[in-house]
Amino acid sequence: MVGSWTSSSALLLIAIAAIQSVRADTPSGRANHGCALLRSTIYCYGGAERTVAGATTALSSNLFYSLDLSEEKSISDLAGAWQEYTAGNVGSNFYFAMTAVPELNIFVIDGGRGTGQTGYTTQTPTVTFNASGSGSWNTGINPGGHPLVDTHQAVSDNSSTVYLCGGRSSDINANTAGPMQFPTQMTLFNTPQSTWSSTPATLRSVSSQTRLHHKAALGIDGRTIYYVGGIYPSRPMDASGASYYYSHVNMTDILVYDTIQASWSTRTTSGSIIPTPRMDHTLTTKPNTGELIVYGGTQLDSSLPIDDYFYILDPQSMTWSNRTLGTSAAQGAGPRHGHAAVLAGNSTLFIIFGSTGDSDSALSALDIENWSWLSTVPAVVVPESEGDQQGGSPGNGQSQGEQPDSGSSVAPGTIAGAVVGAVAGVAIIGALVFFFLRRRRNQNGETVASSDDDEAVAARRLKALEAEHHSPAPPYSDIEPPSSRQFLPSYDNTAAGKPDGSSSSVSDGQVQRLVMAPVKPDGA
Ligand SMILES: *[C@@H]1O[C@H](CO)[C@@H](O)[C@H](O)[C@H]1NC(C)=O
Ligand SMILES: *[C@@H]1O[C@H](CO)[C@@H](O)[C@H](O)[C@H]1NC(C)=O
Ligand SMILES: *[C@@H]1O[C@H](CO)[C@@H](O)[C@H](O)[C@H]1NC(C)=O
Ligand SMILES: *[C@@H]1O[C@H](CO)[C@@H](O)[C@H](O)[C@H]1NC(C)=O
Ligand SMILES: *[C@@H]1O[C@H](CO)[C@@H](O)[C@H](O)[C@H]1NC(C)=O
Ligand SMILES: *[C@@H]1O[C@H](CO)[C@@H](O)[C@H](O)[C@H]1NC(C)=O
Repeated sequence: MVGSWTSSSALLLIAIAAIQSVRADTPSGRANHGCALLRSTIYCYGGAERTVAGATTALSSNLFYSLDLSEEKSISDLAGAWQEYTAGNVGSNFYFAMTAVPELNIFVIDGGRGTGQTGYTTQTPTVTFNASGSGSWNTGINPGGHPLVDTHQAVSDNSSTVYLCGGRSSDINANTAGPMQFPTQMTLFNTPQSTWSSTPATLRSVSSQTRLHHKAALGIDGRTIYYVGGIYPSRPMDASGASYYYSHVNMTDILVYDTIQASWSTRTTSGSIIPTPRMDHTLTTKPNTGELIVYGGTQLDSSLPIDDYFYILDPQSMTWSNRTLGTSAAQGAGPRHGHAAVLAGNSTLFIIFGSTGDSDSALSALDIENWSWLSTVPAVVVPESEGDQQGGSPGNGQSQGEQPDSGSSVAPGTIAGAVVGAVAGVAIIGALVFFFLRRRRNQNGETVASSDDDEAVAARRLKALEAEHHSPAPPYSDIEPPSSRQFLPSYDNTAAGKPDGSSSSVSDGQVQRLVMAPVKPDGA
């Protein structure tokens, strides 16, 4: 009797699991992806799988996911509630720039590394995704001759203008034939008009450094963009200029762009705290104070995150502070890099995916009012003015409105849902009986214990990896062979038909690696 109940329950559970895997999922591990919040949904695109040994492979499938935040949920439920957008994507890509344009309910993706070494697979250098209705891509944007780069940053202001800054020339349209390019002008994308422009003031007027792998955030005044961290090209490796040595930007050196005056300036932080230089971190503006929150990051020639992963910059006093994040019942994101940080409302900062050495699909949420990790995430409430149509309002079920279920399959989905609903009802009863019987046998408390174990195992593992791979102060000598320095996957210039072959020091591996020059104290 018990046996037949449990086996039929198990079958029904399998049926439920199959249904669930279509509707909600945990994406595979990834880093160097992009995420944006529109209304009450987070959208994440692309990324690369990374390993501690340094391999970085662009994802080729499961590229586009969304997460509905319109209801209060536990962080563990949310982590398994991603929905894959199956009605089309724009190809493999990572190290692109991405920003939400909330007024239009769209996000913009610019540039990126495409499939990694030789290709760029999105149809155009710039695409937008319109999250209204069942969602749609616009791949028909004329690039207007703007620099085609990766590892740059995009920030949007309240007039739907996107500001693109930094990065380096990518393999798009084979424009790496010749010296590596590092844009020094701000590129402006007028999203409603789909037009491009640039401002006359160049970065060079205030700084000897251009930047890549840096991060940007718009201040609470709505007009000042802050750039923090990253690396800069310190000198070309040879006369061709096709590849460069790179150095870390000092965390005391803050670049500032004024969107109204179209001008650059630099600020230098003061005070005793100076974060370790970093790249592939995140930068988020805290809405009610204007503080800039730095999370995570890594360094050149390392696959591991840096240990001092959390800082706050006060842009008024230009001083850094740090603090220990409260953990309470929730597990925090810990040190990582290549993650995305998305602010929802005034106080919930989501830290999404990224790499602790190997890339993972972790989701965490930090309350930035009391600086503690959340185990339950409040619903994201969309202001009346933004919440047009049915989408995004609190209480919407997952089959409603903004969810990017594919447009044409909405009706079949609904029908399937009704059938499934009846089956699921029976299944749930079976499942309850199954769990009830099981629980009586096992006593309880097993899930709590296992998550503690995971944490301990992960911590031990990270320690072990650190012992193995983390050279204390990375010795950046120029004479090490390029193959051992693989931290920034570079371009296969031979594939672009580059007429070089001269530089014997790098041509053997044909993929040129970015390497770091010795850092002089002044960072020059
Ligand atoms: C987004 O799509 C909706 C239709 O679903 C359309 O009304 C709206 O104009 C589009 N927005 C943009 C910025 O293209
Ligand atoms: C947009 O931001 C600018 C600069 O802070 C401000 O002057 C302007 O009033 C804002 N406009 C709207 C519509 O919020
Ligand atoms: C950054 O700059 C500060 C002040 O200019 C200096 O004391 C510090 O050593 C520099 N740090 C690095 C890593 O170069
Ligand atoms: C903050 O940073 C300083 C060094 O800059 C370090 O000694 C201190 O332990 C850090 N505090 C926290 C809370 O991480
Ligand atoms: C954020 O804070 C501001 C100012 O305190 C408040 O007006 C606004 O309603 C808050 N927004 C949310 C979503 O809580
Ligand atoms: C932090 O604040 C949030 C609300 O902003 C609250 O839900 C949470 O319980 C607080 N956590 C702690 C540890 O006080």
